[in-house]
Amino acid sequence: MRIDILTVVPQLLESPFAASIMKRAQDAGLLEIHVHNIRDYSTNKHKNVDDYQYGGGAGMVMSIEPIAAVIDKLKGERNYDEIIYMTPDGELLEQSHCNQFSLQENLIILCGHYKGVDERIREHYITKEISIGSYVLSGGELAAAVLVDAIGRLIPGVLNDETSALTDSFQDNLLSPPVYTRPPEFKGMKVPEVLLSGDFKRIEKWREEEALKRTQERRPDLLE
Ligand code: ADE
Repeated sequence: MRIDILTVVPQLLESPFAASIMKRAQDAGLLEIHVHNIRDYSTNKHKNVDDYQYGGGAGMVMSIEPIAAVIDKLKGERNYDEIIYMTPDGELLEQSHCNQFSLQENLIILCGHYKGVDERIREHYITKEISIGSYVLSGGELAAAVLVDAIGRLIPGVLNDETSALTDSFQDNLLSPPVYTRPPEFKGMKVPEVLLSGDFKRIEKWREEEALKRTQERRPDLLE
C-alpha cells in the first residue's frame, strides 16, 4: 500500500513512522509513506500557501492552487482509491473505516491548517473527510499519523500472529478483556486464577465474559 500525505509541516510527520510497527511495515515493503510539502507547489514569490478569507473574518485559508497542483501531479502518476481530508468536521474515525482503507492500494491524505482549506478542494478533490475526535488540533498532521498507524497495522503481513489485529478491541464491537503477565502475585495483587489454570476452554469463556462486561460498563453504545 502507498500513502501520500500532503502537509505544510512535513517535520511533524517524520518521527511517527520512523520506529516500531510502522517502520517495520515500510522496511518489509508492505507500506510506502511519501510526505509532500505543499509549499513546494506554491508558484507565488513568497511561497505562500494560504490567504485571507473572502467575506472577511479571522484566520487564513489554505489556497486551492498548490493543493490542486500536488494532487493533480500524483493522480497523473497512479490511480488513487481515496483522497482523504483530515478535519474536525469529518466523519468520526471508526475501526470499520480503518479496515476498509487497509484494503486499498493508494491513498492521499491532506492535512489542513489555519481555518481549513478552500471549500472547492473539498468539493472537487476530496473523496472522504475524517475526524479523529470531537476536539480541534492545531493541524491535521497528528490526525493523519493516527489514521496511517491504524491502517498500517491492518495490512496483511504487518502484524505477526502474536500481535494479530483480529483480537483488537472494536474488531467484533467488543473491547478487549484485561491482560496480565508475570509475576502471578505482586504485593498481594493476584492474577485471576482461571488464567493460570491451563484450561483453555475456561480461559476463552472468561475472556468473552470480561470483554462483554467491560464493553457494557465503558462503551454500551458498541452493543446497540
Ligand atoms: N484537524 C484538526 N483537528 C482535527 C481532528 N479532530 N481530526 C482530524 N483532523 C483535525
